[in-house]
Formats: sequence, C-alpha cells, structure tokens
Amino acid sequence: MANKTLKSTTFVIFGAGGDLSTRKILPAIYKLVESKKLSKFCIIGLARTDRKFNDIIKEAKKHIKTSKKDQAKAKKIWEKIEQRSTYLSLDFNTESGYQQLKETIHKLESRYNKTKNRLFYLATLPTQYQNITKYLTKYQIATKSSIKFSRIAYEKPFGTDQITAKKINKCINKVFHEKLVYRIDHYLGKELVSNMALLRFTNRVLEPLWSNKHIEKVDIVMTEKLDIGKRGNFYDNYGALKDVVQNHLLQLVALTAMEQPKKLEAKYIRDQKVKVLQKTKIQSMQLGQYNKFTKVKGVKKNSKTDTFAALKLTINNSRWRGVPFNIKTGKALNKKETYIDIKFKHIPCLLQSCPRETNHLRINIKDPNITLKINSKLPGTKNQVIPISLKFSENLHFDQNSPKAYENLIEQIIQGDQSAFVRSDEVEASWKIIDAAIKKHKGKLLTYKKGSTGPKVPK
Ligand code: BG6
Repeated sequence: MANKTLKSTTFVIFGAGGDLSTRKILPAIYKLVESKKLSKFCIIGLARTDRKFNDIIKEAKKHIKTSKKDQAKAKKIWEKIEQRSTYLSLDFNTESGYQQLKETIHKLESRYNKTKNRLFYLATLPTQYQNITKYLTKYQIATKSSIKFSRIAYEKPFGTDQITAKKINKCINKVFHEKLVYRIDHYLGKELVSNMALLRFTNRVLEPLWSNKHIEKVDIVMTEKLDIGKRGNFYDNYGALKDVVQNHLLQLVALTAMEQPKKLEAKYIRDQKVKVLQKTKIQSMQLGQYNKFTKVKGVKKNSKTDTFAALKLTINNSRWRGVPFNIKTGKALNKKETYIDIKFKHIPCLLQSCPRETNHLRINIKDPNITLKINSKLPGTKNQVIPISLKFSENLHFDQNSPKAYENLIEQIIQGDQSAFVRSDEVEASWKIIDAAIKKHKGKLLTYKKGSTGPKVPK
C-alpha cells in the first residue's frame, strides 16, 4: 500500500485497558505512526477502573516486536503516543461522566488535533453500545455540526441473535448515519480476505469456473490451538457458533460466493454479500465441546456451550445450487489453520491415465498463501499422473511486514472506506442463518479431547 498520509484523528477508545485495545488497537496506531501515515493525533482512553495510560501502553508495547537496532526509534514513537494520550475513568452507562469526556477531548485536541476528526472505537461489550451511542450524541461529542468527521467503530459480536442485532442497529442508526458506522470484523482486514474479490474477478482461470458446473464443494476451516483462556465468562455466553461462525466464517462464505459487484466499492460489495447471505441455508450442524471446558474459570459447571462447530450450508441460487459449503471451527484443537478450500469436479477421463485427484484451490488465510493443485506427469514414467502444487506465497512476493488486520482497518476508517466493514443488513442476515441453525439443531453435544483433531463428525 502506498504511504498515504492520513487525516489527523482523535481516537476515543472505550474499553482502553482491555485485551483488544492493548493487543490490537494501540499496536495498530503505533504502526501507523511508525510508517508516518499518522502524524497529527491524540488518544483518549476510557475504562471503568482507575488506571494510568502509561500502564496500558506498557501492556501494548509487548505486542510490538522491535529489533535491537530499532529500539531507540521505537522508544521515541511510544513516547510520542504517550505524550498525546490521556486516560479517563468512566462508567459508560452513566451519563454524568460524558461532560467531563467532552472537556477532556477539547483539551487534548486544542494541542494536538485542531481539525477535530474523531474516531470513537467501542471495544466494549455489545450491551454497552446503545448507551454509549446515545450519550455521545446527547453531549454533542459526536455531532456533525461541531466537528469535521466523527466515525464510530463497533467490535463484534454484534448482538446475540437477529432480534438483538436489529435492536442495536436501530438505536445506532437513530443517531449515526450508516455511512459513519464501521462494524469491525477483523477477518475482513486480513490480506488474503481483502484479496478475495480481486482474485476471483480478475482471473480468467478462476471466474468462469466459479460455479456448480465446475466446483464440487467448498470447505471453510478455522481451527485454533488456543483454548478459552481467560475468556470463560464471555465465551460461555456465546460459543463457537456465535463467536466466529456468525461473523468471520459467514463473511468468508459471502466473499467466496457473491456475484460480481458493479464496482469494487463498499456499497456494491456489501449489496452482493447481503444477497448471497439471504440465500444461504443451513443443511446440517454438529456442535462439540472440549473435555476441560467446564473447568475454565467463568464457565458454568454444567455448560452446554459449543467450542466446536461443523456446518453444512447450501446456497439457493443458480450459481451454487447443489454445492455444499462445509464450515468447521473449533477451540483447543491440535493445530491452527484458516483456509478456504475449493474442490473442483473430476475432469472426464479420456486418456488411459486418469488423475485420481481433482484440482484444488486453497486460499490459506493464516500464512498467507494460495495453492493450486493440478495434475502433471510423474517424471520419468510413462503417462503416470500425480498432483503438483503451484504455490503463491504472500510473504515471499510482497513486503515482509505486510499490514496486519487492525492496521488496515483503522486506516480504512480514517479514510472513510467502508468496503471492509459489515453493514447492518449483513449482520442481520447472518444472524438469521445462525438462529435457524440453533433452532434446527437436535443432535447432542459431541465431546473431544483438548489438543485433538476434534470430535468425529458424522457425514
Ligand atoms: C475472534 C474470536 O474474533 O477471533 C476469538 O473472538 C478467536 O475467539 C479469534 O480466537 C481468532 O482470530 P485469528 O485472527 O487469530 O484467526
């Protein structure tokens, strides 16, 4: 990406002391300052507890790796961030603190960001979204008249079902025009996910084959070694289906299956994603739980929450009718993998030597790389066919430090580009799929051993 200077920005981070803020948001801001894209900025960190901003920065620093030779430079950048930041303890649900927030923002902006572009970043529980949104407007902290731009970013999960998502959307859209709302799904900031549309629609060797005529099935896999860790309380109320399938994995389905947008712009991309989600139906689902899950702090002893989910989806349109989209995800498994696998149909065999393997395209989001498996002659033999891999590795061909998801996303919010953010109707359409899946699910919860390949999923 070209080194483009970003508009000056005031970051107002709700939930500044939390995991997301210290692991992702602040390190992303650091990266934008380091690359000199961001020079005029200030940060107001908000959380309930009494803390100092430099304690939060201490945490954030752990997530930026610096080589020995760059240590002096890194120190300077962190000092700059610290100098331009302040912390305010605020009970998000109580109105009284918002006047003080307004004054704090003014004070800092008068020194560091006179343009008053503001980005409100809600790294909080979804239950707090409605009050924060309401008070930001009531106290004219986020009103159009007083400042140049104000954009508001919400982290997933966006509700717990379609009804709650609709309620939250309604409340937000009462005060913020949809054009100012950035619903974050960090998967859309990943390099190969943001590459999906271009990959599909700019390649003659792919797009004409991208349908039930040539594709047998699509597998979307996101497995993790990571267990629930310290997130017992949160996770026990969500589970795999709501934590990652409703958002990350259905976004991957939508990007894989959508029709070509008229232009590669937010409106058109999101229109196509919604259309395909509205045609997506659940065919079957298995849920599982790893054996030590109920021992995790914050998890109920008799919890039936899923830490593993396998779903078969179908898309009822002429392009995809008959092609299963298989989704698999799980915590505490034997390896971390994230990929989309497209299995092509067998080619009619006209030769004596028929290939046993069909063509496969794997879009590996984690590493990231793209591998195409084709058939070729085994060297030295007479017409014996073996599969060979053509591999394109992002890290080999581009900048080794290709931007991380949050850095990309924050940059896009400041630029006002909504194409990698989820629109209200997309969120509601994907919850509808999940609600139907839960309603239809009759099977029992399968169990699996921590560190294993997961439960045996019946075909
Ligand atoms: C988050 C989920 O959205 O994504 C986590 O809440 C999960 O449970 C994480 O671990 C996975 O993200 P990534 O980028 O590591 O695949």
